[in-house]
Amino acid sequence: MEYNPMLPEVKENPYPYYTYLREHAPAYQIEGLGFWALSRYDDVDFALKNPSLFSSATFLANMLGDLNPVPEAPSLVSCDPPDHTRLRKLVNKAFTPRIIRSLEPRIREVAQGLIDQLAGKSEFDLVHDLSSPLPVIVIAEMLGVKSEDRADFKRWSDDIILATNRMFTVGDEKRIRESIAEFRTYFQAVIAARRTDPREDLTTALVQAEEEEQKLNEWEVLSLLTLLLVAGNETTTNLIGNMMLALLDHPEQMEKLRADPSLIPNAIEETLRFDGPVQGLVRQLTQDVEIAETTLPANTLVFPLVASANRDERKFSESERFNITRDTEGHLAFGYGIHYCLGAQLARLEAKIAFEELFGQFPALAGTDEPVTRMESLIVRGPKSLPLVAY
Ligand code: HEM
Repeated sequence: MEYNPMLPEVKENPYPYYTYLREHAPAYQIEGLGFWALSRYDDVDFALKNPSLFSSATFLANMLGDLNPVPEAPSLVSCDPPDHTRLRKLVNKAFTPRIIRSLEPRIREVAQGLIDQLAGKSEFDLVHDLSSPLPVIVIAEMLGVKSEDRADFKRWSDDIILATNRMFTVGDEKRIRESIAEFRTYFQAVIAARRTDPREDLTTALVQAEEEEQKLNEWEVLSLLTLLLVAGNETTTNLIGNMMLALLDHPEQMEKLRADPSLIPNAIEETLRFDGPVQGLVRQLTQDVEIAETTLPANTLVFPLVASANRDERKFSESERFNITRDTEGHLAFGYGIHYCLGAQLARLEAKIAFEELFGQFPALAGTDEPVTRMESLIVRGPKSLPLVAY
């Protein structure tokens, strides 16, 4: 069985391929890409726990090529200690659980506003109308983007994400470069303005963050702002989309959830385990490492498949079953260790609010006969659009 994340049939449903890999080829070299896919829970976990063996330094270069929006500074997700330790400490000061919790009323207001626009409609598109705009508006406000600039911000964000997906045409590339240039100019101005005129936003918090008399320089702040866009928008959109798809495919679970919305947080964790937005990560070996009885030489590029680890029967019993009341402890959908997702609490909160508000507004929702098309990405998985019929 040939596994390659570029193949349309794999994109459509990668899970039978992961089952095959876990059983027959737990360290598997992907033809054409050269990466070695790791598919078993213990091996993926080992890779994420050992950044000194599995470096993140080339992650972004592998995804973005020369389209890196901020080549002047290392990106948090694409660097190793000690750079990573220093950056993460500073970012943690700006992105605290308290700040995230304080956003709840505003996130709800944004979600309600989007859902209010659907009033009276018998059909709408979950992705277009709710799950895509919600995280973009939230992060735009957090970063201090003026509401009149939001459409530009969305365009830059979409283009930069397209670049990370490595699935664009020559025409796209020209536009992506223009968007990157506009994005840089806009946020360089915002960063400069926040230094002299601080506000209640994340950009100000990043500019001011200080640890042992060290601060982030302008490029590091810009690099972090870019990462927040890239890492947080499409992933959260896909979490909401994948959860809706899983619930539509499992009507008994949908019924259970509607009967007891206090299960929403666990249903979110189960979605992350069962069909997470991030399928795999990228690492590069710093020395020879034996993994799954294969010795991989230094510099090998590794693709730890977190979505496969999350379906590993050795870790989760009845792993192929979507069960919103199961114990999901230990899933790797947000990664693990030093690079553990900075925005995990924000993503969970946005998804929870989206489902609470949807269920509150629509007593019943159903899918349509239209086949689901998936986003074009090597790493991210979710529906491009998701038409729903409302009752
Ligand atoms: C359901 C939604 C999300 C998923 C599934 C997800 C998944 C992940 C994963 C797997 C990693 C680890 C990367 C690695 O080890 O190489 C990561 C890191 C990261 N995520 Fe998320 N993410 C989500 C939402 C968000 C949001 C909303 C934000 C911020 C607005 C965010 C910001 C980040 C950042 C900054 C990192 C890098 C952390 C570091 O390298 O120290 N993510 N995310």
